[in-house]
Amino acid sequence: QTVGVVFGGPSVEHDVSIITAQQAMAVLAERHTVIPLYVGKDGRWWTGEELRDVAAFTQSPPRGARPLELRLGAADGPFFEPSTSRLRGDRALPISIVLNAIHGTGGEDGALLGALELAAIPHAGRGVAAFAVGMDKHLAKTVLKEAGIDVLPHRRIERGEWEADRAAVLTDLATAFPPPVVVKPATLGSSIGVARCGSAAEVEEALELAFELDRQAVVEPFATGATELNCAVLGRPGGELTVSEVERPLGGEAGLTFEDKYLSAGGSGAKGAVGAKGGGAKGGGGKAGAAGSSESGAGMASADRVIPADVDPELRERIRHEAEKAHRALRVAGVVRYDFFVLPADGDTPERIVVNEPNTVPGSFAFYLFEPKGLAFPDLLDELLAIGLA
Ligand code: DAL
Ligand code: MG
Repeated sequence: QTVGVVFGGPSVEHDVSIITAQQAMAVLAERHTVIPLYVGKDGRWWTGEELRDVAAFTQSPPRGARPLELRLGAADGPFFEPSTSRLRGDRALPISIVLNAIHGTGGEDGALLGALELAAIPHAGRGVAAFAVGMDKHLAKTVLKEAGIDVLPHRRIERGEWEADRAAVLTDLATAFPPPVVVKPATLGSSIGVARCGSAAEVEEALELAFELDRQAVVEPFATGATELNCAVLGRPGGELTVSEVERPLGGEAGLTFEDKYLSAGGSGAKGAVGAKGGGAKGGGGKAGAAGSSESGAGMASADRVIPADVDPELRERIRHEAEKAHRALRVAGVVRYDFFVLPADGDTPERIVVNEPNTVPGSFAFYLFEPKGLAFPDLLDELLAIGLA
């Protein structure tokens, strides 16, 4: 196939997306022709062979980038040519399928996929609604709860509500969710803007920040003493699922911050985002990540994660079961990583497993979680392409 990999984008997770795309493109190139489609933060589209090297992105626009007359969300004409299923550019690009590697806004929320569907461009992923729901922390919790999946209680606050009467919002929160709480922008990822708050003053500050980044925020109790466990699911259009190994991400108590995830311990940019052993984009592509993850045998610990998670095997199986249930509720054809909290038993309250959030475009599509289950990254990517070409 000729695979157009779309990455970057207007999202606050722009840089993380570059890493994911580099890893995916390096692996895809073993079997397919890869056309990089880079979307700058300003929405301009670029292509060019050199965009397959992470080093090109040390400057803006990236070294060797050729502009495409494409705009994500621009009003000055369609950015696809529906009749030929080609991307309109300085020349028509012969793309047979698009793989979305944009995390967060514009990509993970279903917007790009909707545009591709409208233009009849095959793309690896099905279920625009599921992507949109998955990206919205309020909607995701609502849908998962309806499906019988445990989630933490939360309050959604709109920016307008906040601006109209901050005092009323804070008074309401003080009763419903006394600190410690976590404040999150409702539709962003990679923990950007997420804050743990121990006092009303911190809640106020955190909401101010959240509303600089997003139009909605969610507030939920801080999951004291929780263990974070993540598990991914590959869903195929017919409903057949592959459930991954379970990881325990490292770097903080429940609720990793952006700094924990991407900037910690010798972190160079987004390297912790993807790939076992913090392989990230080391060496300029997916090779390092893939090589690192092949060592992910029993109990492999890395700077970023433990795979399989060092918890009771029975708990791992329960997490896998809950991930499967969550996936059946969301109905995504594609890869989704579900992030869980395990809340310890407390007095009469038994241990609880709650879904913290689904990630419908997880970092490097969570290949390092599927490998221990016998699904290699190239095969995982081929499964995704098959979804789009079915
Ligand atoms: N949003 C990041 C990329 C993740 O969850 O993997
Ligand atoms: Mg996330």
